[in-house]
Amino acid sequence: MPVRSMAVAKGRIAAFGIPPSAQSRLRLDAHDRVILPGLVDCHTHAVFAGDRLDEYLARLAGADYAGQNRAGGGILSTVAATRRAPFAELLDCSLKHVAPLVAEGVTTLEIKSGYGLDRDSEIKILKVAAAMGPILKTRIVPTFMGAHTVPAQTERVPYLAWVADEMLPDVVASGLARSVDIFVDSIAFTLADLDRLFKRASALSCRLHAHTDQLGHTGATQQAAHWGACSCDHLEYAHPEDVEALAQSGTVAVLLPIASSFLGHAPPPPIEALRQAGVPIAIASDLNPGTAPVASLLWAAATSIRLWGLTPSEALIGITRHAAHALDPDADFGTLAVGQSADFGIWDIPRPESLLYAPASHRPAMSFFRGERR
Ligand code: NIG
Ligand code: FE
Repeated sequence: MPVRSMAVAKGRIAAFGIPPSAQSRLRLDAHDRVILPGLVDCHTHAVFAGDRLDEYLARLAGADYAGQNRAGGGILSTVAATRRAPFAELLDCSLKHVAPLVAEGVTTLEIKSGYGLDRDSEIKILKVAAAMGPILKTRIVPTFMGAHTVPAQTERVPYLAWVADEMLPDVVASGLARSVDIFVDSIAFTLADLDRLFKRASALSCRLHAHTDQLGHTGATQQAAHWGACSCDHLEYAHPEDVEALAQSGTVAVLLPIASSFLGHAPPPPIEALRQAGVPIAIASDLNPGTAPVASLLWAAATSIRLWGLTPSEALIGITRHAAHALDPDADFGTLAVGQSADFGIWDIPRPESLLYAPASHRPAMSFFRGERR
C-alpha cells in the first residue's frame, strides 16, 4: 500500500496516513512523487588532499595497485598530500569531494580517517570530518582508521600498538570517533593486528569495521565477525565459511563495486552465498582517490546490479536500511518509520528503480535532514 501522507515533528517521523484536516505548521504536497529515506553512504575516505591520477594512468598501462602501495605510492602518496594540507584547505577540498553525494540525496555519510597516520594529521582529518556536518546539513559518522596502512620508515607492530593503545583511546575520549576500522591485507595489517585493535576498541565500546578480503583471502572476515563487527567491507575474496561467520554475528556485508571495477580483475563477492545465509548487504561509494574516485552512491548501487547481479530492491535497501545498520545496528536513520530521524528525499521519478536505471540523471527535488529542508 503506498503511503499517502507523512507527518514530521521535532525532526522525527511522527505518523503516516494523516487526515487532511490535521493541523500543521507547514504542509507540503509531494504530488505523487516518490519519497525515499535519505541515502546512507556507509563507507568513504572522503577527507584527503591531492589526487592519484598518475597512478591510475599507470595502472591502465599495466601497473598494479598492491605494487604501487608496496613501492611507497598508493595510500602513502595521499598521506603525504593530506599531511601537508592546512586544516582550512583540507576542509575546502573535502567539501568539494562530497558535494555530489549530498546533491544526490545522501543525508548520512561515513568518513574514515587514515590518510594522516600520525597524531596531528589523524586528528586534523577527524576534525575536518566533524566540521563538514553542519555545513552540509548531513549526518557525518566519523571512523578512526589509523590502521589504514603502515607509515613510511615505521615498523608495523609498534605502529599498530600505538594506534590501538595510544591514539584510539585519545580519539574516543575526545569524542572525535566511536568507530574503528582496519585494512587487513598483505600490503597493510595482519589478523593479529586486527585482534589487538579490536580487543582495545571493544573495551572502549567502539563499533568495529574492517576492510577484509579485498585483494586476496586473509581470514579477516571471519575474525572480524567473531569480534561482532558491525561491518566487513569489500569481500571480493571471501570464502563460504566467511559468509557463515557473517551470518552468525549479524555483521553487514558492505560491497564496494566502484573500487572493484576501478581495480579490475577482482572476482565478484559471494553474492549468492550472502543471500542464502541471510547476511544483510549494503552498498557504498568507498569514495577515495586511489580505488574509487567517483562521488556517486547511486552509481555504486547501479554498478552492483550490472556487475554483480544484485536486484534493484537489494541495491536500494543496500544504500538505505542496511547501510544504516552497517554503521549502527540501532540506527535511527535509513528507513521511513515512526520515530526515525526525518531524513528523506522527494524525487520526481515514476518509481524508485528509476534511480538505478539512470543513476547520473536524478537529483531529489527536495531533500530533508532531521525534518529541515537542506
Ligand atoms: O577501500 N583498501 C584500502 N582502502 C581504500 C583505498 C585507499 C586508497 O587507495 O587510497 C579502499 O579501497
Ligand atoms: Fe575503503
